[in-house]
Amino acid sequence: MAGIKIIGTGKYVPETVSTNEDFTKIVDTSDEWITQRTGIKTRHMSDGEPSWYMGMKAGAQAIESAGLSPDDIDMVICTSVTGDYYTPATANIVQGKLNIHHAFSIDINCACAGFVYALDMARRYLSVGEDVQNILIVSPENITKLVDYTDRSTCVLFGDGAGAAVVTRSEGFYHSYLETDGSGADKIYAQSARPGNAFTNREKAESFKELFPQGKEHYMYMAGNDVYRFATTKMPEALEKACAKAGFTPADLDIIIPHQANARIITTAAKNLKLPMEKFYVNIEHYGNISSACIPICLHELREAGRLHSGDKVGLVGFGAGLIFGACVFEY
Ligand code: ACO
Repeated sequence: MAGIKIIGTGKYVPETVSTNEDFTKIVDTSDEWITQRTGIKTRHMSDGEPSWYMGMKAGAQAIESAGLSPDDIDMVICTSVTGDYYTPATANIVQGKLNIHHAFSIDINCACAGFVYALDMARRYLSVGEDVQNILIVSPENITKLVDYTDRSTCVLFGDGAGAAVVTRSEGFYHSYLETDGSGADKIYAQSARPGNAFTNREKAESFKELFPQGKEHYMYMAGNDVYRFATTKMPEALEKACAKAGFTPADLDIIIPHQANARIITTAAKNLKLPMEKFYVNIEHYGNISSACIPICLHELREAGRLHSGDKVGLVGFGAGLIFGACVFEY
């Protein structure tokens, strides 16, 4: 199977920025605690921009930077877990707003690993036939709408924004390792509307217990310590397995772009892999955790800074609610 080439990237972040100091006014916390335990200093937060809007902005920039026009796009994949509607898919709205004609579009729900899973899916579509040449991946997240701002252990972690990339086929290598562990689905979740209609038997409805009882309304629940342990073990495992398929080790990668959930998770993963931190791109200080938008925003920043060169071995690694994790390694 062929590899992939990222020919365009884009990014959008809302104007409003919240500092650690701002959080000291709403919960019992401190700049010192947040900085030491997470590495986060600021996050951008939606001023009401819907996810489709952020995806459209980042997507338009990605198409332009690829030197393409919207009609060159054959497929749109959206990775948002914070879409604006149950239906239609956010990918469909972005496709319409960008005036992409004759393409098909799909939403996937792979939490913070969404970009890695979308890239893998893109590569498989690109490999199969001639009808898909250019794929737009958009990763907009309004994750702060799921945040309970009375819960100090989660509210300081998240921000909003979008990243996007245009992907095409190439002759370079590409390998991936993806895995989910649904038995850990209760470790991070946010509940949607409950079932019920005009004819619902209320007594029967009452007999259905909550699958995950710790949550509060639609807000995100996270068992932080369990997720921390999962992430620090599974990120190195996924990278090692993807690299092994390519016939090398993570030490051979030129740059690793990890999901930005907590700077300590990245440092520990680097230690577990016996790799220097210089191999990892980290921008969590400025954005916090923007779920699936983190990795494409990093990619965009690296491209803009001229830090990616043809032939570089790039590794992307993500993890998140599901529980889900995965890595892909490819020739830039
Ligand atoms: N300010 C001050 N104190 C705090 C704060 C805060 N914001 N948050 C928690 N604390 C306190 C706790 O109450 C606790 O106090 P106690 O000892 O008196 O009970 C103490 O700090 C230690 O709490 P821990 O939860 O053990 O802190 P930890 O160092 O583990 O950090 C954190 C918590 C940041 C959540 C960490 O566990 C983490 O990063 N987990 C992973 C999160 C993650 O990766 N999520 C990604 C997935 S998100 C997705 O998929 C959408």
